[in-house]
Amino acid sequence: MKRTIKKLGVLTSGGDAPGMNAAIRAIVRCASYHDIDVIGIKRGFAGLINGEFIRLNRRSVANIIQKGGTFLETSRCSEMFTVEGRKKAIDAMKEEGIDACVVIGGEGSFKGAAALSEESDVDFIGVPGTIDNDIWGTDYTIGFNTAVNTALDAIDRIRDTASAFDRIFFVEVMGRKSGFIALEVGLAGGAEQIIVPEIKMDIEDLCQNLRESFRRGKKSSIIVVAEGNQMEDTINIAKYVEMRLKVECRVCTLGHIQRGGSPSANDRILASTLGIAAVEGLLNGKAGHAVGEIKNELVYTPFKETWENKKKIDERYFKFLPVLSI
Ligand code: F6P
Repeated sequence: MKRTIKKLGVLTSGGDAPGMNAAIRAIVRCASYHDIDVIGIKRGFAGLINGEFIRLNRRSVANIIQKGGTFLETSRCSEMFTVEGRKKAIDAMKEEGIDACVVIGGEGSFKGAAALSEESDVDFIGVPGTIDNDIWGTDYTIGFNTAVNTALDAIDRIRDTASAFDRIFFVEVMGRKSGFIALEVGLAGGAEQIIVPEIKMDIEDLCQNLRESFRRGKKSSIIVVAEGNQMEDTINIAKYVEMRLKVECRVCTLGHIQRGGSPSANDRILASTLGIAAVEGLLNGKAGHAVGEIKNELVYTPFKETWENKKKIDERYFKFLPVLSI
């Protein structure tokens, strides 16, 4: 039975990701297609609690598909972990007449949406938007593809100076506690080694692998390090390798550039697909779920399952490494 929605809220929460604007655009346009009024909620859950609302229509989201970041802005809102904070959010939605809401974000955002879903009669649905790609229930999250391409452009540039100086470069990438960015950009960037949180690596093994590649005639190396790896912080890894191999090592931490930039075509298409699927899902009884795409099929996963399950990295890539970096 098709649900009716009187007023739809939309917010972006947590780390911004390229493609979030494209998702907002698709949500607003799909709601408009169904004659549903839309309220943009500024600054994620913090803005929801404070009632920072703006009316959105199909024209409000013109010329944003190509823009990085999120024009609604975002936040990491600790007040949402309190009953009082959530009550303020619920009261603000009631006051505005919002009876359904799309939350674009990662794990923490879905936890906030699930809590509000349980404590109010507002229907929530999640759209996975984070560069980390660490959300169960979708092959890719919005922003991941663009972040990988941004990191890859940086690694290609680093490769020039590494080979000019016969140096080993340790390039640290984002990903919180996951290695999805590191794995994809390491393979695409021709890295000799990739260090990820999901796989324990011994620093002496790393040194031995590097010794062998130098013995095989390599004169410089790129090592991609995921920020949440189990070994050490990247600077200490580089210092240790430099001391053991007597080879100049340098560190480049890519940081927040991975969060910026115009979204790739892949991310714009993913964002548009998931944005529409979110509104259609709310109309067709999929509240309390996160929308995703698995093997090109749309799927709706109950919020809880998106954080109770851990998405696995594709370990095949590690089998390719010794071959491709021989
Ligand atoms: O979750 C996205 C992310 O970019 C992580 O990869 C990173 O660890 C974190 O956000 C950084 O958070 P902040 O922008 O609050 O410094």
